[in-house]
Amino acid sequence: MQIAIFASGSGSNAAALMQYFAGHARVRVGLVVCNNPGAGVIAHAEANMIPVELVNKAGYADADYVLGVLAKYKIDLIVLAGFLKLIPEWLIDAYPGRILNIHPALLPKFGGKGMYGMHIHEAVRASGVTETGLTIHLVNSEYDKGAPLFQVKCSVYESDTASDIAARVLKMEHRFYPKVVEAYATMQH
Ligand code: GRF
Repeated sequence: MQIAIFASGSGSNAAALMQYFAGHARVRVGLVVCNNPGAGVIAHAEANMIPVELVNKAGYADADYVLGVLAKYKIDLIVLAGFLKLIPEWLIDAYPGRILNIHPALLPKFGGKGMYGMHIHEAVRASGVTETGLTIHLVNSEYDKGAPLFQVKCSVYESDTASDIAARVLKMEHRFYPKVVEAYATMQH
């Protein structure tokens, strides 16, 4: 199984995936697709010797172009890791059941448009919930609405800032995302 990681930002989850699958017998990270030339994920890809395709706004709007890039690298599975653009219908149709995302909250709570980055953890903090966590889910054409595959919880303490919550969840993301991707990828075919 050849994976493409789509990422827009610092890429710590992408790095965790690259390290986990380095030398893996059945699953390989073959490509990073990035829409932001200043993203930290690019350095992680270089350090792990994974090719990067930078796709700008016009490129991302061009189905033939994007599908051509994915075909060139023989991509079987797309793993979103902090990718901030909506996945278009044509990409979902081309990869049915083969696009995964991670969201740093217990969906359906704290999901949807505008719920990204620290906005999520600030909303968790403000809501007074005592638990948060992460959700790994299949992707459909609405933000954070695809079928959930996996969730894990952690506590929210009264003394927590939004940054404390973010750090606790991110640590769990790095631990669980590679394992869930591995389980899902090796179930395919
Ligand atoms: C993670 O919290 C992930 O759940 C969300 O975006 C963040 C990406 O962080 N979708 P990083 O770029 O992997 O460090």
